[in-house]
Amino acid sequence: MARSVSVGLIGLGTIGTGVARMLLERARHQGTDPDGTIALSRIADKDTSDREFEIPSGVRGENADDVLLDDDIDIVVELIGGTGAAREFVLKAIENGKHVVTANKALISAYGDEIFSAAEANGVDVLFEAAVGGSIPILRALRESLQTSRIDSVYGIVNGTTNYILTRMSSEGAPYDELLASAQEQGFAERDPSADVKGWDSQQKLAILLRFAFGAGATPDQILCEGIESVTPLDLDFAREFGYTVKLLAIAKRHDNGIEARVHPAMIPAGSVMAGVKYEYNAVEVIGEEFGTQMFYGKGAGQRPTATVVASDVLDIAQRIQTGASCCRVGNLLAGDGAPPIISADELTMRHYVRLEVEDRAGVLEHIANVFASQGISIESVVQKGRAEGETVPLVIMTHEATEYSARTAVASLEDLSYVRAPVQRIRVEELS
Ligand code: HSE
Repeated sequence: MARSVSVGLIGLGTIGTGVARMLLERARHQGTDPDGTIALSRIADKDTSDREFEIPSGVRGENADDVLLDDDIDIVVELIGGTGAAREFVLKAIENGKHVVTANKALISAYGDEIFSAAEANGVDVLFEAAVGGSIPILRALRESLQTSRIDSVYGIVNGTTNYILTRMSSEGAPYDELLASAQEQGFAERDPSADVKGWDSQQKLAILLRFAFGAGATPDQILCEGIESVTPLDLDFAREFGYTVKLLAIAKRHDNGIEARVHPAMIPAGSVMAGVKYEYNAVEVIGEEFGTQMFYGKGAGQRPTATVVASDVLDIAQRIQTGASCCRVGNLLAGDGAPPIISADELTMRHYVRLEVEDRAGVLEHIANVFASQGISIESVVQKGRAEGETVPLVIMTHEATEYSARTAVASLEDLSYVRAPVQRIRVEELS
């Protein structure tokens, strides 16, 4: 019989509860562990309230050290999130010779190099498939299946909460607050949903993807990031008229001078496969020199889809322990000296949708066109809706390609004009080609 493997879990929140149930209900992994040699033997969480299933007596406690200092535990699963106590626990687990499984994108994206170096020094593994794309095995695919090809770009929808909100706002015109509350109720959103709607969650996930796809050691703060809070049903209507839909995208592309990396709401062609990704689903498209385009699609948020991936990481390491295979696979995640830099956001070039509320009178359009011209931005088309003399009307301008810097500067100048009601809405256009 295979050697027994002992697992400790820190954090019994939404995902932790799902993982605990999966590991305790043996039927779910009978195929990989028919003799029941992989056991969840300790759980630590300060919240001692009942969960929706029976936990064997003696397994549950409040103190993380009961897991971290238990010599019998081989694998520590960290599911408390954040970069404070979680960082301390993960480093302590590694120092104590334990392998780590986590879904903590904030931690891995900000402290990846520190954690992987510590793991390499201690000969242990760190797996975190659930940190990016929920149930989609995108990290494994980049690390294993696609590793022999140069990757040219990786982009997609990596946040379920915002995709759920934008999908329903577009189809039902439902108000933002109601949609966010619904996403929270269904367990898609982070504990603090600002991380979802402000784009930080996608930014962290993109930082991790940059490491796997390009060997870049970028931290989230190097990535241009804008959330969905200012997107309105009116923008979604205009997008439809132009043949687009709006999605919060995470985008990374290889260039000769480095990697372009950005997270923002993007107008994408309504007929694209990415536009058909709805609700809490995520999708990541990878373009590589050898294989062309591949798309990974699946549920990106929610207890069961995420928990199953965390539990699979646990089983992956447990099986390696049992077969005596090397478990330490973090070395090639460390960004080396030749790691490509992240290109400054100001230099990035794209088309822009700009929506203004302007006074409806002669000469206004000319002034606005002059602001764009002064930044060297060429206008592709202009749409004005309605007629309301003395009042404001929406005016939408689609630009040709312009740098992020010039578009931002033009919008700031427009907001200073007396006949423009701030804030001016700007959504970047992404043709996905
Ligand atoms: N809050 C995340 C999302 C789930 O909405 O996609 C896990 O990353």
